[in-house]
Amino acid sequence: MQELQIESLVKRYDASSQVRAVDDVSLTVAPGEMLVLLGPSGCGKTTLLRCVAGLEQAQEGRIILEGRTVFDGAHGLNIPTHQRDIGMVFQNYSLWPHMSVRENVEYPLSARRTSREQRQARVQEMLEVVQCQHLADRIPAMLSGGQQQRIALARALASKPKIMLLDEPLSNLDALLRVELRAHLRAIHREVGFTGIYVTHDQVEAFNLGTRVAVMRSGRIEQLGSARDVFERPATDVVARFLGIRNAFDLGASDPCAIAAGPLAGDLSIFDNLARTPSSRAQIFVRQEALRVLPAGQSVPAGMLALPEGTVTDVLYAGSFNDHMIDLSGHTLIVTQATALGMSTPGSRVRAVCRPEDVLLYQDGRLVTR
Ligand SMILES: Nc1ncnc2c1ncn2[C@@H]1O[C@H](COP(=O)(O)OP(=O)(O)OP(=O)(O)O)[C@@H](O)[C@H]1O
Ligand SMILES: [Mg+2]
Repeated sequence: MQELQIESLVKRYDASSQVRAVDDVSLTVAPGEMLVLLGPSGCGKTTLLRCVAGLEQAQEGRIILEGRTVFDGAHGLNIPTHQRDIGMVFQNYSLWPHMSVRENVEYPLSARRTSREQRQARVQEMLEVVQCQHLADRIPAMLSGGQQQRIALARALASKPKIMLLDEPLSNLDALLRVELRAHLRAIHREVGFTGIYVTHDQVEAFNLGTRVAVMRSGRIEQLGSARDVFERPATDVVARFLGIRNAFDLGASDPCAIAAGPLAGDLSIFDNLARTPSSRAQIFVRQEALRVLPAGQSVPAGMLALPEGTVTDVLYAGSFNDHMIDLSGHTLIVTQATALGMSTPGSRVRAVCRPEDVLLYQDGRLVTR
């Protein structure tokens, strides 16, 4: 049985308007899975999560939690939040300020018919999981942001909810602490094995934590797959752009001749599929980190695809990495490479090379698979 099933969910904040914050979303989350919702601001991540929690009511579709329907738009069914058995951690930690850490973590248990000893044992166990036993008697005001976030996590996990909903729980923390807590959260997820939905707009966080990643845009799911799937084969040009692929070349028509005249002139063999399925709009995306810069005269390593020669216009040094800006007859190509591999000087003639599989081809916005 799936832990969570969402079927054709539609949420409009203004019932009279056609604007859909969640627009026909269907997905399932398997037991023990951490599904990450990734997407730009305003794409509907929080809304979707709040619908699952019962904090917002959708208009259409169904939400089924461990086989039990908790929302059904067609039948007007909407089970309230406290009957959904859900744990939540949000961006603002929302701990009870007047309660100690121990009392905060115990709070969700006190509503249940458990003995005092059982409750205390569970609190102890949860504080150990988040490595905060030593903070048990403090009040939230005496904790750092990262500690508060860990207590919020312990509190949400304490009652062993069917599903954990985490909405950007790390975004209020400084960069270093984020990285640390991300690893910690990953370890807790492995150890406790909870089922979760995790919202973020940070792709590294998504790839680190997600068993699967759903990329959202305008209330819809653009792509749902493993982190590697999403990263290596962005399903649409929108996903490719959202993931930060900066080299995009419009091919205009799908006529292979147009490619021959474009920046990837030379090797057309990888575009067999394109030639076979003509359409009105084709684009090539190449991740800047997938490219390497070679001096113009140097021979191209076997198996690599070479782009035409160009002129380096600028090199942006960023420590261990740098960005080469290369002019390819009017198109700017960006190559991000390890500084250890060298840096060219502006004005020099170079060629960029990549593996053929790193060239992503989109036809009418959809990835053409080779
Ligand atoms: N209470 C509300 N009333 C009306 N519109 C809302 C409300 N909350 C959100 N929206 C709108 O719904 C859409 C989705 O918002 P949502 O908060 O779900 O986005 P998000 O993906 O979580 O964004 P962010 O990354 O900024 O948190 C947005 O267009 C937003 O303006
Ligand atoms: Mg949000």
